Amino acid sequence: MAMEILFSDDSNGMLSVQFMNEGDKRPFNSMPESFTGKKLETFYLPEKGILVIGLGKKDDFKADYYRRAAAKAAKLASSYKIHGVGFAADSLSENDAIAIVEGMLLGNYSFDKYKSDDGKFFRVRKIALPTYAKKYHESVQAVAKVCTNVHMVRDLVSDNSDVVTPDFLEKTARAIAKKNRLHITVLHEKELKRLGMNLILAVGQASAQSPRIIVLEYHGSESSHEKVMLVGKGICFDTGGLDIKPRDSMLDMRMDMAGAATVLGIMKSAAELGLRKNIVGLLAVTENLIGEKAYRPKDIIRAYSGLTVENFDTDAEGRLVLADTLSYGARKFNPKLIVEFSTLTGSIVGTFGSHVAGMFGTGNAAEYKKKMYDAGMQTYERVWELPLFEEYLDETAGDRSDLRSLGKTRYNGAIFGAAFLTKFVGDRPFIHIDVAGTAMIDEAKDYMPKDGTGFGVRLAIEFLKKV
Ligand code: BES
Ligand code: ZN
Ligand code: ZN
Repeated sequence: MAMEILFSDDSNGMLSVQFMNEGDKRPFNSMPESFTGKKLETFYLPEKGILVIGLGKKDDFKADYYRRAAAKAAKLASSYKIHGVGFAADSLSENDAIAIVEGMLLGNYSFDKYKSDDGKFFRVRKIALPTYAKKYHESVQAVAKVCTNVHMVRDLVSDNSDVVTPDFLEKTARAIAKKNRLHITVLHEKELKRLGMNLILAVGQASAQSPRIIVLEYHGSESSHEKVMLVGKGICFDTGGLDIKPRDSMLDMRMDMAGAATVLGIMKSAAELGLRKNIVGLLAVTENLIGEKAYRPKDIIRAYSGLTVENFDTDAEGRLVLADTLSYGARKFNPKLIVEFSTLTGSIVGTFGSHVAGMFGTGNAAEYKKKMYDAGMQTYERVWELPLFEEYLDETAGDRSDLRSLGKTRYNGAIFGAAFLTKFVGDRPFIHIDVAGTAMIDEAKDYMPKDGTGFGVRLAIEFLKKV
């Protein structure tokens, strides 16, 4: 259900939000002295229908506080079953207005499809920005479209692995392609075999559904032949394979297709916004299951690129499916840049927790990494770079084979995984974003729900505008 965005100073019948900086005069006498306007402190006056939200000290202000504040307002309105939220503020910049709309939309969400009616989240339908903000109309509508796609990604990541299967992801991608005039091709088992994509085939060989690479093409620029290639890890369920995961580590492994879902959300958003870029998105889709057909530890497998890989752990499946997909896409589409999203390693969760995604990139991608970092700060889907020094790249050399899939020590796991991937992109600028810690979270934050977060869609759209 789409949110209606109004430009009106009349918030009759809606929850009306007012902001207050720390130390400013409280707008209502009935407010207690203890309310000082600290960041994201809230005070609700039900008889007036007004919610006052603190923004902290003026000097410490960040635009993200608007996102978080708006999400708090959406949640409060929802809990009182108020159908709309109006914002009263005299000097919102375009970025402030965008942040407020993002916060409202992203906060106005819950994965509740399995809840009975009285357990469902009440969704707010309307948001009113001040009349003078009408000049931001276009950018605000654009942001609303992207947020709707973030919801789609969240749904895909949060739902059961027996719902979001390879077949389901393909169906979803086909429906999106049809509606948005994206070109779609899907490589199934037979085609993957013909092409020699033995890594993705090995990972998927215990699954009843064929592994597949879903390719979506968006042609937004007539004047340029340059393409950006996006790649996403789409493991619909990761048991670990024969190197089976312990129970607790397996619990959330329905989310291991978040990279693929993110790329789907980005492609849909790019098409809906009419970005003037050419973008190709590849989803590397399968399941990492167990059974008599399952691939085994220490198998040596020949990749599509021709290199052989000794695979030391069947739970390191992500890098394998990505390796074939990256080198196939690089060869077929000759992109100027490759950006890849994956829930690749537990190691990145240990490093950054759920606040920041790990970014890695080749030396020739320096300018793009800087733009990705900036897009991260702007959208607050933040990335932080970790190094790919040559010592790390050298660790990928195999003993019995060209490459090994795991390092010889149990250290620097996220960096090793990234180093391995760079072996499959030739000399093209390449950025890998490890979203294992950010794609799904255990506890809701203001505008991020528990479970699938949709992290990466807003980031990538902002990034794509810059390149
Ligand atoms: N899907 C996991 C990574 C993961 C861990 C995602 C936690 C989200 C949360 C990946 O396939 C995996 O199992 N990685 C292993 C690699 C190891 C075997 C080299 C890991 O990180 O432990
Ligand atoms: Zn795994
Ligand atoms: Zn995995």
